[in-house]
Amino acid sequence: MKTILWAVLMLIGASADAEVNPQIFGDAIVAPLTERPASAATGEHLFVSRDSGHCVLCHRVQGLDAPFQGDIGPELSDVGDRLSPGQLRLRIVDSSILNAQTIMPPYYRRENLHRVANAFEGETVLTALQIEHLVSYLSQRRSGVP
Ligand code: HEC
Repeated sequence: MKTILWAVLMLIGASADAEVNPQIFGDAIVAPLTERPASAATGEHLFVSRDSGHCVLCHRVQGLDAPFQGDIGPELSDVGDRLSPGQLRLRIVDSSILNAQTIMPPYYRRENLHRVANAFEGETVLTALQIEHLVSYLSQRRSGVP
């Protein structure tokens, strides 16, 4: 009886972890932050929008319909050739994991990336789904692909 109870508790714990824990492998967060489907078109909107990501403040993407695009950060027109979705995800979540001096804001920083709860979702700059929209948009920025 004790063993069964233990197994059930382990299962509950394991499934909760799988849902919310962004695990870092090397320089990437391989698993999406949410199972909900991401949209590259929404990602493009977030990239430009002053109220959400406003990534164009520092980054340029060729062909993007935005009146102003900064060049403080690297150009991202073909970033999908350089970085995998997991590498993009980590850089948007919290670039300071790779470069403590970075001026790029952390968009999904948690106190402890290995133990987070949905209740803290509102404390991040962007939501898990918004991060996934941006990953989807940027992973499609490749040379020769319009
Ligand atoms: C205040 C300026 C600033 C803003 C705003 C900003 N970034 Fe950055 N970003 C940088 C800088 C600078 C780097 C270069 C790496 C570093 O310094 O850590 C960078 C690096 C990156 C990289 C890695 C590029 C590469 O070639 O290695 C990605 C991807 C990225 N940013 C995406 C975004 C997204 C998406 C947003 C908006 C949600 C954003 N950035 C907002 C400054 C910014």
